Amino acid sequence: MRHLLSIEDLDRSAIERILDRAKSFTEVSEREIKKVPALRGRRVLNLFYEASTRTRSSFELAAKALSADVVNFAAGGSSVEKGESLKDTVQTLSAYRPDLIVIRTPYVGAARLVAGWTDASVVNAGDGKHEHPTQALLDVYALRDRIGALDGASIWIVGDVLHSRVARSNIHALKKMGARVTVCGPPTLIPRGIESLGCAVEYSLARLPEADVVYALRMQKERMTDSFVPSIREYAARYQIDGRRLGPRQVLMHPGPVNRGVELAAEVIDSPQAIIGQQVAAGVVVRMAVLYECLAGRGAPHTEPKAATPVPT
Ligand code: CP
Repeated sequence: MRHLLSIEDLDRSAIERILDRAKSFTEVSEREIKKVPALRGRRVLNLFYEASTRTRSSFELAAKALSADVVNFAAGGSSVEKGESLKDTVQTLSAYRPDLIVIRTPYVGAARLVAGWTDASVVNAGDGKHEHPTQALLDVYALRDRIGALDGASIWIVGDVLHSRVARSNIHALKKMGARVTVCGPPTLIPRGIESLGCAVEYSLARLPEADVVYALRMQKERMTDSFVPSIREYAARYQIDGRRLGPRQVLMHPGPVNRGVELAAEVIDSPQAIIGQQVAAGVVVRMAVLYECLAGRGAPHTEPKAATPVPT
């Protein structure tokens, strides 16, 4: 695997191979010295144009656990604030000859564009509302750990599906793993035609008890240009997952960060059904596996960056 840009590009056997490799890395995570030399001498560039806690920290930990050298770049405080474009930034940083670039941006399709501008491998850490493939991989990993094989499992993805790259990547990943996926939310937050991805659509939680797994999504206010719900209070009244709606045998997931009291009530976040912490923990070993897949076995790092551009002052 050269790049990881989208779950759509992976088939079930590729997903299983990555998750099996992630499992083998749990042994490293449990050691006192959490490091192996697998990617020694490789250079990983974390390029984040959007806020992140989980994804950025786990990619950094994953790269360091494999002994790669890591450079963290955040758009805030960089020459992006002076007007430098994404392409110029990527080509400028490619002068450092990174072997792999992890990229998060608010722009749909940006990761695929970046892959065309650099010789480095590229991993999509979230491109706008398009995809977040490593999130879906770690979700499948954490869920398989809890319930075993996903074949035939009923998984409801509830909330702001319209703005959610996590929903899109998870629909693809869960379907490929044999699960039955239903998306649920207010009609204004369900993209038209999403059934074409192979999922069912519900606009109320009336049939939620049929679900084996409830995957709640954050209300992404930062991506909302219009008013999609009459009020947060009304949204919570109709769609919040609380102790009354979550059954004792159902598993609860959320990609984080959670808006407490909006999509989830406090009592379910801290309930035994919730595997939110396990999802976060899975992020390190799954991202180790992705970095390893992209970089191990590749030849020596490339020698010349693609069309380096002058560095603006
Ligand atoms: N789930 C997720 O992508 O979280 P961060 O935005 O904190 O990385």
